[in-house]
Amino acid sequence: MKIIPFNTYERKVSRMTHVSPFTQQDNAILDRILESRRSVRSFAPDIPSKEDIMSIVRAGLLAPYAAQAVAGQDFRRFFVFQEGSTQLAHVAALAKRQAKRMAEQLRVELAANSSLPDQARGFLQRLERLAETGVPGIGTAPYYIVVAERSGIPPAEQQSLAHCLENMWLKATALGLGFQLVSVTAQMGRDREFSSVLGIPHGEFGTNGCAIGYPMKRPPPVERPDAREVTKWID
Ligand SMILES: Cc1cc2nc3c(=O)[nH]c(=O)nc-3n(C[C@H](O)[C@H](O)[C@H](O)COP(=O)(O)O)c2cc1C
Repeated sequence: MKIIPFNTYERKVSRMTHVSPFTQQDNAILDRILESRRSVRSFAPDIPSKEDIMSIVRAGLLAPYAAQAVAGQDFRRFFVFQEGSTQLAHVAALAKRQAKRMAEQLRVELAANSSLPDQARGFLQRLERLAETGVPGIGTAPYYIVVAERSGIPPAEQQSLAHCLENMWLKATALGLGFQLVSVTAQMGRDREFSSVLGIPHGEFGTNGCAIGYPMKRPPPVERPDAREVTKWID
């Protein structure tokens, strides 16, 4: 038997453990998916298959979660609303009501604090519009999907939901589907009636959501600054 000196052995092992299990081609495909991920806000009427939706849900389940914070309890649940259903109409009405509440609250804050940035006034106008016309993504796409993440200590459910939704977004992109974040779903989680539609104990979960369907038009690839321009290497 050939005896390998310890140092050489260690070097070999370390080189071996740094070999990626993925090929360059795998990485090129991943890069293409990352670059193709865009927000889609206009959907074709065709309904994506349930298999595709379930593979998107599975991608969401693979995303990390705050394991310590939720102490091993069931951490994530998915609720799929299909266009035209009574319950989707119900949650669309709840979303409008939520936008109205948020507008009222912001109006009070703006009246009390004149130093709030101009952006707050712009946001107020957007909320007022949503309260009138409804929230895009709820009823404007074949599917509205709500993800509920168990609230833990410390609270990290919105961070976990962001990871989950990003995984779902990338999988939807890989399947040629369009995806829109519906971030008002986070505030809707505070609405007892919304929890009751989902059938989850009120106050135990944070929520967020997205709309999915075939894009009416495929947006061009993402535009971002050069990574070198926004990166500082600190020695
Ligand atoms: C925290 C967060 C919340 C967002 N909420 C919404 C939303 O409610 N509706 C929407 O259409 N887009 C939403 N977006 C999408 C952004 O507007 C979008 O990612 C950004 O304009 C860049 O465009 P891209 O996704 O096509 O690269 C949200 C993005 C983030 C990160």
